Amino acid sequence: MIIAIDGTAGSGKSTTAKLVARRLHYLHIDTGAMYRAVALAVLQSNIDPEDRSAVEELTRNLKIRLRQSNGIEVLLNDANITDLIRNSEVTAIASKVSSYGGVRDKLADEQREMGKNGGVVLEGRDIGTVIFPDADVKLFFTADIEERARRRLHEMADRGEEVDYDTMIADLAFRDHADSTRKISPLKKADDAITIDTTDLSIDEQVELALSIVSDKKKLQQSVKE
Ligand code: DC
Repeated sequence: MIIAIDGTAGSGKSTTAKLVARRLHYLHIDTGAMYRAVALAVLQSNIDPEDRSAVEELTRNLKIRLRQSNGIEVLLNDANITDLIRNSEVTAIASKVSSYGGVRDKLADEQREMGKNGGVVLEGRDIGTVIFPDADVKLFFTADIEERARRRLHEMADRGEEVDYDTMIADLAFRDHADSTRKISPLKKADDAITIDTTDLSIDEQVELALSIVSDKKKLQQSVKE
């Protein structure tokens, strides 16, 4: 099966995608991490993130790999950058460079290649709409912005980065707007995606809900075959 999970930052999609993939023994493909890898490459090469053609040219020659270990490791030109891509600076640049067509085209090709044989949970913003519009299961994760801000602050505190609550709300609102209004592949619920609002759900509840939707779909596909 191909399972597509899209949604906003902090909606719980990454955690759920990781745990669902683990339970099903599927590959977990975090497509946001690939945009973050491009952002880090931009930072490291001192290119202006606003310079679309320079960023697109740089991206063409990048080798980005997701290695499955205990969690995903992100490799940029064979260097392990997993711990370098979650800070605020990379986050802001990732949002910018993900609006460039040349960046999206290259990463989209790689994502389709990684997912084409099935047995995958892909998470991002455009998986159910653009990357795999025929995915077997499409989930769209949302949560109230206040709850998403609290979750993000916790994650950042765990990594030793301090951000205040109001700044985080503003940052999330800015990114939601940028991600959902960009011209190419904006964040959007696919018509046939099932929405999961995680505001009041625990991680266990999110994972069980997602797994029950997958299991229902499997049964349906089985019964159609018979
Ligand atoms: O999910 P994330 O926060 O790690 O994603 C980082 C950025 O990449 C985010 O601003 C949106 C963008 N992104 C995208 O445009 N398309 C995807 N499929 C995944 C992420």
